[in-house]
Amino acid sequence: MMKNLLVTGGCGFIGVNFIRQLLEETPDFTGRIINVDVLTYAGNPLSLADLEARFPDRYVFIKADIGDRAAMAAALDAYRVDAVCHFAAESHVDRSIVRPDAFIQTNIVGTHVLLELFRARREKIRRFHHISTDEVFGSLGPSGAFTEETPYAPNSPYSASKAASDHLVRAYHATYGLPVTISNCSNNYGPYQFPEKLISLMILNALEGKPLPMYGDGLNVRDWLYVGDHARAIWTILARGVEGRTYNVGGRTELPNLEVVRMIADQLDQLAGPLPGGRPRRELITFVKDRPGHDRRYAIDCTRIERELGWRPRESFATGLNRTIRWYLDHREWVEQVRSGEYQQWIREHYG
Ligand code: NAD
Ligand code: DAU
Repeated sequence: MMKNLLVTGGCGFIGVNFIRQLLEETPDFTGRIINVDVLTYAGNPLSLADLEARFPDRYVFIKADIGDRAAMAAALDAYRVDAVCHFAAESHVDRSIVRPDAFIQTNIVGTHVLLELFRARREKIRRFHHISTDEVFGSLGPSGAFTEETPYAPNSPYSASKAASDHLVRAYHATYGLPVTISNCSNNYGPYQFPEKLISLMILNALEGKPLPMYGDGLNVRDWLYVGDHARAIWTILARGVEGRTYNVGGRTELPNLEVVRMIADQLDQLAGPLPGGRPRRELITFVKDRPGHDRRYAIDCTRIERELGWRPRESFATGLNRTIRWYLDHREWVEQVRSGEYQQWIREHYG
């Protein structure tokens, strides 16, 4: 049983949900979490601020870059880390198209730094779980789904950097026998997502009566997974996954983007009332220029994790989307924090 779990990127969207779930809802986990995050635009320490008071012996936050070898070595040693769960990454495809440098640095070089530190502590660290994406497999045609055996064919600087990091993790298992696991997951949605990804951005734009930009024809398909289901899958793999194995994680919920955005618009009309003049929010949908290299369709075959580890998604898309929209309606303060320059100033003052 792991006692000191180092989580990288724990102040981001999935990391926050994972840490909350482990401390608040997972009786099997009785250890301590050491959350290391450098707090880029996507990381918000306030999302977890209450945990420091509620779990003073079980939650620690350290502001550091995973690429900073000395800082990461100090964190691993000071807290006698025996397991690592690696979320930290630059995660947004559009940003990677405009400026890929940080993606190469954090996703590839940063992961390599962690692996080298892990190699030097192989007797102490019993498990390294690497969180990855289905985007490493490239784009599907109208049928079929990605399995763990699908060859890698990444199409964006983001997915290429994640593919490189997966290969490094795999190679450190094959070459040095390090106890790693990898998961490749489909699109997540839910609370605490920075408003740049499709669902979080569309909820806020629709609420505020702003245009809802649909790339291309809006018929690209994604396989949506509620973030709480993803968090539970990661814990399941950490606790019971087989060393050296890769697990696909998905929601079995394939939907074209246009349908997702129409659902958001309709639910918001009901929850927040129509726009001035009684205008339905669907009218805000605006077709814009397509994303370069835009993958047409993703779908995950998650039979392995279902059969071998007994994990299954619990949330349906309709209920998960409703919960997510209500969360954004109820957490305007969080939204303003992550959007405002004032908040970045707060980070500098508190964490240097
Ligand atoms: P996110 O962008 O919301 O959060 C990333 C976090 O990592 C932030 O808190 C950021 O401050 C931190 N970070 C970035 N660079 C760092 C560095 N150099 N050192 C330390 N911390 C750093 O991302 P997310 O959506 O929570 O994704 C988490 C992981 O899951 C990523 O590895 C991503 O590739 C993967 N993933 C995401 C999805 C999804 O739909 N969001 C799906 C599959 C896989
Ligand atoms: O599949 C897993 C991946 O899902 C993760 O690895 C990534 O970290 C995560 O960002 C996500 O990548 P996508 O590129 O699929 O997500 P995004 O929310 O950016 O876009 C989802 C779809 O919606 C995609 O087809 C592009 C489209 N889109 C997106 C935005 C932001 C639009 O049409 N308009 C938009 O404004």
